[in-house]
Amino acid sequence: VLMDVINLLPACPPSGKKAAMDSSPFLSEANAERIVRTLCKVRGAALKLGQMLSIQDDAFINPHLQKIFERVRQSADFMPLKQMMKTLNNDLGPNWRDKLEFFEERPFAAASIGQVHLARLKNGTEVAMKIQYPGVAQSIHSDVSNLMTVLSMSNVLPEGLFPEHLIEVLSRELALECDYKREAACAKKFKELLKDHPFFYVPTVVDELCSPHVLTTELVSGFPLDQAEGLSQEIRNEICHNILLLCLRELFEFRYMQTDPNWSNFFYDPELHKVALLDFGATRGFDLEFTDVYIELIKAAADMDRERVLRKSIEMKFLTGYEIKAMEDAHLNAVLILGEAFASSEPFDFGLQSTTEKIHGLIPVMLKHRLVPPPEETYSLHRKMGGSFLICSKLKARIPCKNMFQETYSNYWSRRARKEQ
Ligand SMILES: Nc1ncnc2c1ncn2[C@@H]1O[C@H](COP(=O)(O)OP(=O)(O)OP(=O)(O)O)[C@@H](O)[C@H]1O
Ligand SMILES: *[C@@H]1O[C@H](CO)[C@@H](O)[C@H](O)[C@H]1NC(C)=O
Ligand SMILES: *[C@@H]1O[C@H](CO)[C@@H](O)[C@H](O)[C@H]1NC(C)=O
Repeated sequence: VLMDVINLLPACPPSGKKAAMDSSPFLSEANAERIVRTLCKVRGAALKLGQMLSIQDDAFINPHLQKIFERVRQSADFMPLKQMMKTLNNDLGPNWRDKLEFFEERPFAAASIGQVHLARLKNGTEVAMKIQYPGVAQSIHSDVSNLMTVLSMSNVLPEGLFPEHLIEVLSRELALECDYKREAACAKKFKELLKDHPFFYVPTVVDELCSPHVLTTELVSGFPLDQAEGLSQEIRNEICHNILLLCLRELFEFRYMQTDPNWSNFFYDPELHKVALLDFGATRGFDLEFTDVYIELIKAAADMDRERVLRKSIEMKFLTGYEIKAMEDAHLNAVLILGEAFASSEPFDFGLQSTTEKIHGLIPVMLKHRLVPPPEETYSLHRKMGGSFLICSKLKARIPCKNMFQETYSNYWSRRARKEQ
């Protein structure tokens, strides 16, 4: 199949010249169709790459590529019944059915590397069982390399990606996400961290129905935030305030972060007036060494101190200090735009087109003139920060964020001082 796709793609452009980012004449409908079909075969890797690129968001990736990823996401092939049963029997033992009063054979949702089924425990609790496609973990290496081959042949990848570096990070994250036992442990840890939270909750993990390829959690109620645009301004503000604050706490208090803040991973239930958190596959920890500097970078941005943002960025190896002026400016402006939200005690209007657009406009410059690949933590960190801001802007939140950051900042350093004594 891969060879078919490659043969159908027109020749590459003259060497040294890359096609303009958003006018790819190399992607006719028919070719796009074929690429979609190939990428569906390496679905997990393709969606992971889409996720890694989409932090940078819509304006950044080639619109053709965007469409391709969306199509891949939508066209999930469900496992044949026999294959699914085999996974369940192998993983949970032949008597898993005895633990359930009811199991629906048709999945109700697609996951990136599996499918999700509704079931009911003997005690009446409804659960979601996420079942992984077979063979995903074993084929990561070849899937990722097929993926990159197809995409580079089709010339749709943006410049400045440092593909080798990206591939390495992508493969590593994907390998971790194939281990549902690990995801179960991450969900439990988060449940514990948030056990007294008035607004967020994490569904209970049902241990006796969990394994490396099966993750069973209590079914959550409500609807994902992509359906929350019609809620009142007040409720949208409250949801977004909580999401931003959680993002800061994950990074600077827990130093443990769920790094896929896609708004479909948050379920709001109007009756409970609570938000459930899903999807802990991409959860990771951060070292103090990293957060010590990163919090100062955000502080400098919130203080609108351009010089200090530059110094901290070099310290973090976001910049080398030898970039051309355009690159340096683009980076500083991007960080300062994020800082803008944390600088003002007036409500910050996330719905304003201009903020989002400003960031988008800077990204091409930042990529083009990069001298070093960004530190490994950046991918997940920016996905989280960018994604959380994106939720706020999609829900048109108007919230003051200054105190939220100032408190995070002073709590961080007083905790650090206590621990070091
Ligand atoms: N406990 C649950 N209650 C209700 N729905 C659930 C639950 N767990 C999963 N789902 C549904 O299944 C979908 C996929 O689950 P999940 O997000 O965990 O998988 P994923 O592999 O991370 O997929 P993606 O990368 O698309 O988010 C969710 O978006 C949600 O609609
Ligand atoms: C039902 O069983 C599950 C798994 O053992 C447990 O987590 C849950 O609390 C139980 N619910 C009730 C209502 O007893
Ligand atoms: C979030 O997930 C939805 C559906 O699961 C998908 O359509 C969308 O592209 C994702 N958004 C991002 C920014 O990854």
